[in-house]
Amino acid sequence: MTRESASASAQPAPVRAAIVQLLSNMRDGKEIREYLTRFSALDQERFAVIKVGGAIIEEDLDALAGALAFLQSVGLAPIVVHGGGPQLNATLEAAGFPEDRVDGLRITPPEAMGVVRDTLTAVNLKLVQAVRDHGGRAAAIPSGVFEAELIDEARLGRVGSPTRVRLDLVAAAARAGQAPILGCLGDTSDGRLVNVNADSAVRALVHELQPYKIVFLTGTGALLDAGGTPISAINLATDHDDLMASGWVTGGMRLKLQEIKRLLDDLPLTSSVSITRPGELAKELFTHAGAGTLVRKGERMLELTSPGEIDRERMARLIESSFGRKPVAGYFDRLDFERAFVTEQYRAAAITARLDDAVYLDKFAVLDEARGEGLGGAVWKRLIAHAPRLYWRSRSDNPVNEFYFSTCHGAVKHGRWTVFWRGESDLTRIPAMVARIAALPATLEEA
Ligand code: ARG
Repeated sequence: MTRESASASAQPAPVRAAIVQLLSNMRDGKEIREYLTRFSALDQERFAVIKVGGAIIEEDLDALAGALAFLQSVGLAPIVVHGGGPQLNATLEAAGFPEDRVDGLRITPPEAMGVVRDTLTAVNLKLVQAVRDHGGRAAAIPSGVFEAELIDEARLGRVGSPTRVRLDLVAAAARAGQAPILGCLGDTSDGRLVNVNADSAVRALVHELQPYKIVFLTGTGALLDAGGTPISAINLATDHDDLMASGWVTGGMRLKLQEIKRLLDDLPLTSSVSITRPGELAKELFTHAGAGTLVRKGERMLELTSPGEIDRERMARLIESSFGRKPVAGYFDRLDFERAFVTEQYRAAAITARLDDAVYLDKFAVLDEARGEGLGGAVWKRLIAHAPRLYWRSRSDNPVNEFYFSTCHGAVKHGRWTVFWRGESDLTRIPAMVARIAALPATLEEA
């Protein structure tokens, strides 16, 4: 695809606005550069598959087209798959085919196929034109990519399930420097046009391409928890069973989560799914914190109960990457070790020690490149469950303090340290604990 290195000021106004908005959301340009390097290093047809529902094209077209044009302007070439649910509802209804679904699939009589084709083609062109209006180059591919077989003609009519993905059309567009915009019109081996459900089209495409990212652009822009608050990250290896067992993951959320798991099960560990809204796509892609929900297959959690089980070399590397300083010589031997919670690839960890009958968190470390994945959160959750009464300390310049202040039940500054605690029921014990913790020897080498 295109790799234009033009400066922001040479970009069309909407793209420039997107860059400015993105940069203003960030502490510095380091993150954006890191992600840009990471994404650019991929074969571009493997960078991302972006699924857009028809409702977004109706309601948020400007932000969507701007976001896609922006990605193109920085040389990234996602493949877009769009639906057209609301549009089809309207045109089919007007043509005398009111909406009727079985198992979530739209019953599509053969006589309705002309309307389906014209409607989805129009939706496709509308998005392509909008991307072009924002200064991007896009190729209209409303049909011809998904070969499909009829699922149950008697019950569903012309509804197909993809059997083959013709990537040559997609690749040709990409080679010509155009973002491929795919509609979900399939065709059978004997050349009949069929309606393909957008989720199954995405699944087939993802299976074929093995992309690094899958993005769902939705109106809500995230998966929501029981209280309606967006969930920032889900690490399936540690969170999936809990979520499925919880009473509040029901209905659409449950289906969505199952669909995402199914997609990720088919992909390498490094791949991830993001759910966000068009206006926040750049922030989601180019920052650690993101904007929306990031779902990864993730790493399982190890719970180590004796110091001998720690892979010291990997743990030392994790600590150094996280704090920018090495653990002091003999750190692992001096430690009054209690437990370590470590993700299996040693990308996030918590190490605890005993302090009388309380638990002292000696190290909480997350690999720089793993920030935003939810691994730190997964470790923290295990730690809290393990240690209802917990103390820890942190230097005042530690960027994690913001999180510590939000999760602690109390904190006291003592010299260069802030000492935090959770779950202390006997407040009279706190002063002595704080003094003792602040006086503990250094565990990291001086920079
Ligand atoms: N920018 C990274 C990515 O796209 C991390 C995103 C984190 N997002 C989140 N909602 N926690 O993979």
